[in-house]
Amino acid sequence: MTKVLIDCDPGHDDATAILYAARHLDLIGITTVYGNQSVEKTTRNALSLAALLRLDVPVAQGCEQPLIRAFRHGGDVHGKTGIDGAELPEPVQSVVDAHAVDFIIESARQHRDELVLCPIGPFTNVAVALRKEPRLAKWLRGISCMGGTTQVGNTTPVAEFNIWSDPEAADIVFRSGAPMWMVGLNVTRQVGITSDDIERLDAGGEVAQTYAGLFDFFRQRLSEIHGISTASLHDPCALVPFIVPDFITYAECPVEIELSNGLTRGMTVCDFRSLTSAKLENIRAKTASNCQVAVSVNSRALVEHIMDAILEWPSTESANDYVRSDSLS
Ligand code: RIB
Ligand code: CA
Repeated sequence: MTKVLIDCDPGHDDATAILYAARHLDLIGITTVYGNQSVEKTTRNALSLAALLRLDVPVAQGCEQPLIRAFRHGGDVHGKTGIDGAELPEPVQSVVDAHAVDFIIESARQHRDELVLCPIGPFTNVAVALRKEPRLAKWLRGISCMGGTTQVGNTTPVAEFNIWSDPEAADIVFRSGAPMWMVGLNVTRQVGITSDDIERLDAGGEVAQTYAGLFDFFRQRLSEIHGISTASLHDPCALVPFIVPDFITYAECPVEIELSNGLTRGMTVCDFRSLTSAKLENIRAKTASNCQVAVSVNSRALVEHIMDAILEWPSTESANDYVRSDSLS
């Protein structure tokens, strides 16, 4: 079973990624970062989700600001708590003593060559970890992120929120040399929970009903802001290569991050040009690193697979045994 560490800013879709990873992968830890809300709120949300799902997984708190520019928490998409729409239980655990950056480094050392790091919020923690421990990129099996887009952005016409929040951090991560998977809005916006799905969840157990409330809030907000009729499951898409790899198709290409302070700041420039002659290859950016970029998705099959994980989640004390038992995977 693939070992993953999720670096997140819960966040409705982050909450879905945590459940989906706990159900199908060996989730060895959760680190939190500012983004959808302050890092204090995203950390509390991660702890409350661990309590709801009865997960015995360490949570480490991370960076509260980007590397360069100050960050203002919007709260407009995910609400004042960062995960509005349902009452979550009080946390039953505290964060570990280690900062998220050190937790990431130590986890990669412990699980050398096995660990997949999944940034699904701004990349600040991961960038600082890569700078603090230059061997980190080699210790990791890979980095599978939700971020960027090959087409339209969300925070700006061309930039996606996680990358836009800290482009310098994203640049460090994309250039790290670690094997990289990027799933962007061009794919994740197709993976949406409908109002019918929400009704199905609402008829389920305690956990399914909680996620129904979360998705209902998220879907309404996305409808108000972007005119989208479904709750976009951006973050769980980053786990798909290790759970149901056939559901998302990736293509390899160089990716560069726009760091200027102009209109295109935070853009993920994916170079899909098919340059035939060697001479033409010279015009490709020398410094860009190759990355597996998601280009298509079997969206309904993926939504159903995620829905099954939520609907099957036991609302009993034995949840931890449930997610650990191979017989169910
Ligand atoms: O742009 C979508 C991303 O921004 C997702 O990770 C969502 O949780 C927000 O962090
Ligand atoms: Ca997120």
